Amino acid sequence: MGEPAQRRLIRKLDLERFLSKIKPHPTPNVKLEQYTLSESAAATILYLAAYTYGGIVDKRVLDLGCGSGRLALGAAFLGAESVVGVDIDKTAVKVANQNAADVGSKDAVEWVLGDIDAVTGRFDTVVQNPPFGVQKRAADRRFIQKALALGDTVFSLHNHPVFDKRLLGKLKATGGQPLQVGASPFMQRFVKEQGGQVETVYALPLIIPHMFDFHTKAKQEIVVDLYVIKGGE
Ligand SMILES: C[S@@+](CC[C@H](N)C(=O)[O-])C[C@H]1O[C@@H](n2cnc3c(N)ncnc32)[C@H](O)[C@@H]1O
Repeated sequence: MGEPAQRRLIRKLDLERFLSKIKPHPTPNVKLEQYTLSESAAATILYLAAYTYGGIVDKRVLDLGCGSGRLALGAAFLGAESVVGVDIDKTAVKVANQNAADVGSKDAVEWVLGDIDAVTGRFDTVVQNPPFGVQKRAADRRFIQKALALGDTVFSLHNHPVFDKRLLGKLKATGGQPLQVGASPFMQRFVKEQGGQVETVYALPLIIPHMFDFHTKAKQEIVVDLYVIKGGE
């Protein structure tokens, strides 16, 4: 039997370029917090997942709340064995499908239209940018529960617990490089109750463009936390 094919390490810039071709949701719904992750934040998350944690290349990957497909398609681009993207919104799944075709990755992702609760199976890695619970309190908790029920390692994006101007300044000064921060006591406890364990938390800057009427600025810069969580063995 021959050696498994060596995978080429993809440059972060090439990943960002690829992700920038994936169009955002055209008519985002405020109730579902349907903002699209910027290509730089999506690239940072996928790069950490792939090359720091070995969670993407040749792995079975699930994207819960995939929206227009940036994380799912990016995982396929980096060399995932298989990728499933799930979203409750018909337009999101339609756009994700179209995006896949546009970037030449038509069959790289299995798109599922439905609530995350309907997903079954077993995955090496779950990547997710869930609703933060700004519109519907605790919306992100269901995503963590489900991700831990299905995956061995979970990369989950959450709002930083407080608006920290100093941390945002620091992150911008490093050109958007993620910085390790502590887990919030709530998340630490909640993840443990679900049988998981927070391994590391990275803060990263995120720009949310003006999308909804209640947004008062052209763009909003915030700090978000990427939780790296190990599921129960
Ligand atoms: C913040 S957006 C993230 C979209 C995409 N993953 C990205 O990062 O660009 C959250 C997504 O979760 C989806 N969503 C919200 N509740 C859901 C649910 N119960 N089941 C499946 N998807 C859901 C929304 O439709 C939306 O596309």
